[in-house]
Amino acid sequence: MNQKPRPKRAYVETYGCQMNISDGELMQGILADHGYEIVGAPEDADVVLVNTCAIREHAERRVLGRVSQLNGLKRERPDMVIGVTGCMAQRLGKTLLEQAPYVDLVMGPDGYRGLPEALERLERERSGGGSEHGTPRAAGVAPGGTISVIERSRGRGPQLAVLDLNMDENYQGLERRRADGPSAWVPIQRGCDHRCTYCIVPYVRGGEKNRSAVEVLSEVRRLAEQGVTEVTLLGQTVNSYVWEGVSFPGLLRDVARIDGIRRVRFTSPHPNDVTPDLVEVMAEEDAVCEQLHLPAQAGNNRTLKRMLRRYTVESLLEKVDLVRSAIPDVALSTDIIVAFPGETDDEFRDTLDLMRTVRFDEAFTYKYSLREGTPATRLPESDFVDADVAQARLAELIEVSRDIQSEINHSEIGRVEEVLIEHTGRDEGQVRGRTRRSKVVVFDGDPARIGEYADARLDRTTGVTFIGTEVGAAESVAAG
Ligand code: 5AD
Ligand code: SF4
Repeated sequence: MNQKPRPKRAYVETYGCQMNISDGELMQGILADHGYEIVGAPEDADVVLVNTCAIREHAERRVLGRVSQLNGLKRERPDMVIGVTGCMAQRLGKTLLEQAPYVDLVMGPDGYRGLPEALERLERERSGGGSEHGTPRAAGVAPGGTISVIERSRGRGPQLAVLDLNMDENYQGLERRRADGPSAWVPIQRGCDHRCTYCIVPYVRGGEKNRSAVEVLSEVRRLAEQGVTEVTLLGQTVNSYVWEGVSFPGLLRDVARIDGIRRVRFTSPHPNDVTPDLVEVMAEEDAVCEQLHLPAQAGNNRTLKRMLRRYTVESLLEKVDLVRSAIPDVALSTDIIVAFPGETDDEFRDTLDLMRTVRFDEAFTYKYSLREGTPATRLPESDFVDADVAQARLAELIEVSRDIQSEINHSEIGRVEEVLIEHTGRDEGQVRGRTRRSKVVVFDGDPARIGEYADARLDRTTGVTFIGTEVGAAESVAAG
């Protein structure tokens, strides 16, 4: 009997931000479309892709460790393909292939359309001859850009690099393969036109590219038909989105009005594009959640200027007022970097003051990490803050922001909030979900109800997470 060959199996492991998670779904979609079976563990896969982040050094170190661990699997199965994709692949490119000679493919964030062709090419090159060890040669152009082939020492086959940045690539027309569930990430933009001096993103993801609003809306409609009720619109500066006259507030309004969509979120906005029009849509559209991420980065004007953030503490505070006057109950979160080169102790204290003034519901806090190729690396060496000072500032910032978060959350005890049940809880018989304001709540419930909405009273808090009790509809009306 004629047996069909077994489909190739691929495994994608993603690190980093929501955009990268979404890119992982995109790669899985592209591979599934080309006949690959997507599997859940590297042990089961012929092709293992590690989708990486380059935002801080720590993220890159973790990936290098992981890739070398995967090489252990490859020693048992030499046919296995290890690919490194995403921002770190773009940043390190061929250097990564030298540093980790067991990696077969590096591919940057604009190359994924050509992933199947690159994998086919790799297979052909492996079975055919090669040229001299260590010599790169261009091997033509695939849909994802130029494929360079680098010969390895005898018997190990070649390595491929696909590293073109492409201003036209916004992955129009390709399907993502999403995990089942009530929530979906929807990228509407790739790349960034800002040049914040600490940030590697514009160099590894290129300039801002926006997706067609028509395509975004039809994707959300399709998701709603499949049962998705919560969408998060994604972009590096998501609220600077514009496409053929459709601005971000317009798109947000249209998404919020799609039948079946109960919750809309977006991340990450740039504070400068938090405009009255946007705030009006947030306030008016029932589906847009009462939550805003407002990455401040620092609370001192000299530092903000040196970061090239293009706003001042005063203008940022005006944005906070604008949002809070339209949506009094809005939950605000932020990103803060401490120990940016040249930051003095007093300037760091200004950041603590900003935290105390705004009182963010949540803060994501980072120590400045030097990224080769970014403008901040050219600051005088004497400006760089000692590691122990940076660590102490981070610890102090975390303490201040955690205390504020805890105070805010304790003041919310007793509220009844709508929770979208997303996961099982840590203990048996518990479920976990988020409120519209993106607060995490755990309560007793049947895991079969994942995807449903429930009203829960917030009984207690760890300071970060809430422990609640589900209340019946009548009780929630009474409490409201
Ligand atoms: N060092 C530390 N944190 C950084 N971020 C971006 N680049 C760096 C860097 N070089 C932080 C910013 C950004 C978040 C996603 O990561 O706060 O908003
Ligand atoms: Fe990086 Fe600034 Fe662009 Fe955000 S806005 S991705 S921090 S350059």
